Amino acid sequence: MVDFESTNEYAKKLDKQDSLAKYREEFYIQEDGIYLDGNSLGLLSKRAEKSLLDLLDSWKKYGIDGWTSGDHPWFYLSEKLGEQMAPIVGANANEVIVSGSTTVNLHQLVSTFYKPENHKTKILADELNFPSDIYALKSQLKLKGYDPNEHLVEVRSDDGHTLNEADIIAAMTDDIALIVLPGVLYRSGQVLDMKRLTKEAHKRNILIGFDLCHSIGSITHELSAWDVDFAFWCNYKHLNGGPGGTGGLYVNQRHFGTEPGLAGWFSSRKDKQFDMNHELAAADDSGAYQIGTPNIFSMAPIIGALEMFNEVGMDNIREKSLKLTNYFMELIKAELDGFGLNIRNPIEDHKRGGHIYLEHPEAARICKALKADGVIPDFRTPNGIRLAPVALYNTYEDVWQAVQILKSIMKEEKYKKFENKRGVVA
Ligand SMILES: Cc1ncc(COP(=O)(O)O)c(C=O)c1O
Repeated sequence: MVDFESTNEYAKKLDKQDSLAKYREEFYIQEDGIYLDGNSLGLLSKRAEKSLLDLLDSWKKYGIDGWTSGDHPWFYLSEKLGEQMAPIVGANANEVIVSGSTTVNLHQLVSTFYKPENHKTKILADELNFPSDIYALKSQLKLKGYDPNEHLVEVRSDDGHTLNEADIIAAMTDDIALIVLPGVLYRSGQVLDMKRLTKEAHKRNILIGFDLCHSIGSITHELSAWDVDFAFWCNYKHLNGGPGGTGGLYVNQRHFGTEPGLAGWFSSRKDKQFDMNHELAAADDSGAYQIGTPNIFSMAPIIGALEMFNEVGMDNIREKSLKLTNYFMELIKAELDGFGLNIRNPIEDHKRGGHIYLEHPEAARICKALKADGVIPDFRTPNGIRLAPVALYNTYEDVWQAVQILKSIMKEEKYKKFENKRGVVA
């Protein structure tokens, strides 16, 4: 930052210059806290609340006819939200569907696209991947009769925090059939070069998909232009779609017509679904990868949440997010030197996602002390503190205050009052 100053006035000045500042009012901000956990569970916005209440009302008003009546007929909601979500991931409208959950969608996509043949039988992932993805990949391998110990290849990390794209490319050997990687790593927040990795995978005749849980709503994507084969994500983190809210998936239009590995009646063409035939006439786009009846009330808040994202635009959101995390790192350097807190997220803009990741041996209890003093962080085992200043509702002053509070916790060793052990949900 050119004119950086470590003062409260400077934070206020940045807030005054912020063109997205007005969106904070649209959220329910906890009065006595600084919420820096939007990368785990985004806050409720008034628009998301309204769309949830609107759909409750449509149930009240229409009963069964809610499937086809009202402003948001439930029968078409997954497709409609998919269309509206497509610009956020840089896809064509019919390549995205709002359905299922991250893990369920991963099972669906691997069931559909993992087709071991001859010597090409292995799946490539990485050792820093989110456990649920690894569990799903292992169970998919077992279902096909393969031993995960031999058939799941996990690229190693040199530093325990980040991955080297060159190492991933070197692991794309002849025996790999499918690759599943994160777009942004859940701990360090590293952005992987999805364009480069896709190009390299395709050169070797390997299909590639990405887990976008930590990248959707945080960074920009060009899934179609990069020619990514498939992707999947949740909508409850940066997209503020509500706890356990419905997830999403993307399938490149090149693959339309590929039979869904896990079929159900919602995989059907809409006009054929109620013919009740035992032969599935699958939708000819990403809709084919839905399974059963959608959870309407878990999708409803996404209507309002997405409206806001499309109004603001991902470029503007990413620009502010980078400014906030840059400012955060400047303050950490200026205010927290000597306390053993190490920044482990990538420093370069193009490699940094939407959160800061600090490492400290006492991380679990530092997080407890932060919470006690009104800052909501996220502890990640073994010793990580994730702090996400969110473009739509956090201020520069939030970041300034959070750093001051962290400084007092470190200086006065307030964390020593707590046990250095994670909670059940950490
Ligand atoms: C990166 C990543 N992948 C997968 C999951 C699992 O998501 P779900 O429980 O919605 O299936 C999560 C959940 O937080 C996640 O952060």
